[in-house]
Amino acid sequence: MKLVLFGRDVQLAKVEFFRYTKKIQANFKLEYEEDNYWILNFDSESTLDFQSMINHLGGVLRIIDIKQTLGTIHNLDLDTWDLYLPKKYNYSISIVHLNEEELNTVQDHAKAFVKNTKSKAVYKNPKMNGAIRIIDPSSYFSWDLESGVEYFYVKASNNKIYCGVSLGCGSTKVFKMLDTNLPARKFTHGTSFRVAKMMMNILNLEEDKTIVDPFCGTGTFLIEGLIQGYNVIGIDNDQDLINDSKLNLHWLKQELDINNTSEVVFGDSRTTEFSADACVFEPYMGPFLKKIPSEKEAEHIWEELDELYRNTFKNLSNNLSEHAQIVCILPDIPTTSQKIFTLNESVFEDNGFAYIAMPAMLKTKAKIKYDTPDGAKIIRHIYVLEKI
Ligand SMILES: C[S@@+](CC[C@H](N)C(=O)[O-])C[C@H]1O[C@@H](n2cnc3c(N)ncnc32)[C@H](O)[C@@H]1O
Repeated sequence: MKLVLFGRDVQLAKVEFFRYTKKIQANFKLEYEEDNYWILNFDSESTLDFQSMINHLGGVLRIIDIKQTLGTIHNLDLDTWDLYLPKKYNYSISIVHLNEEELNTVQDHAKAFVKNTKSKAVYKNPKMNGAIRIIDPSSYFSWDLESGVEYFYVKASNNKIYCGVSLGCGSTKVFKMLDTNLPARKFTHGTSFRVAKMMMNILNLEEDKTIVDPFCGTGTFLIEGLIQGYNVIGIDNDQDLINDSKLNLHWLKQELDINNTSEVVFGDSRTTEFSADACVFEPYMGPFLKKIPSEKEAEHIWEELDELYRNTFKNLSNNLSEHAQIVCILPDIPTTSQKIFTLNESVFEDNGFAYIAMPAMLKTKAKIKYDTPDGAKIIRHIYVLEKI
């Protein structure tokens, strides 16, 4: 059994996990769930590479190998866990909802285990204390817990305590590397790499297929697309951003020795012709709104966006291949009078698109809310659509 712990944007992370595991045919059964984690039984667990799974996903914090499920912490027995550790290693402990006494117990057991196995192990003490304490990714890697051990204890609301060890930790290294090293990264325009990665994983697409981003800006989706093994086409109506995208892609292809094709064209999402198998985008969403607009202001903004989105979907319908999927962000604009401006979903149907079916366990239709911490007042959803 594995415990999969999700990070921010839980709903999106769950959809990403579900779609990605489907693609790699890692089938599982859901045994138990809480808001931010799932406990899963995978078919043929021993053949799966969970560290690589974590590296591929943007929304998973940890995958934990559950070694014991306890009604009381007093039955903890690390000797039954089959831990194969080097003679010298670092270890640490992450806990969710354990009380002080339970925490002391698990610490004592870890110490005793070191003693019994006559190892030279160093306990790395996480800074924060309290009932929820999950080691942050940078400490996880700087303490080299990949080759040591992070014990993980989660007390669920059914009062069971799931005890185990981390099989890997989601890393932000690549995102940081890209944010720092890309020759042309504009934070005012750029989509977050983490969200781009999750959206790209939601696409069910084989490698070497072609993805289009009709609002490519500085090329975040194109970059993630190339990293994931796709060919990419970007369209934008701002020549400066086209140049930025070209610089970024050229750098990335050299840096990571990527041979897939990339094409970036100055054009209009409503009219530019292309040929692609799938589409991912975050479009222009109107002026940055620091405060909620009045109905009149929103109506004015929406008029422009509505025309842009309708014609973009029409153009996508004309140029995407059969059964192509679209994963895109679209805004809702709230107003001071409570009315919310949103895209009329008939646009999808009129252009031959429909929501993809989501399994009941995801408890969402293929319109997933997510928050961006940029202070903007618009509401964003991620839509997953298919050309029918
Ligand atoms: C939210 S930004 C996209 C950010 C992009 N994903 C990135 O990471 O840089 C929206 C982009 O749409 C472009 N845009 C606006 N109207 C357009 C249109 N009609 N056709 C193509 N691009 C358009 C803007 O120039 C802007 O770069």
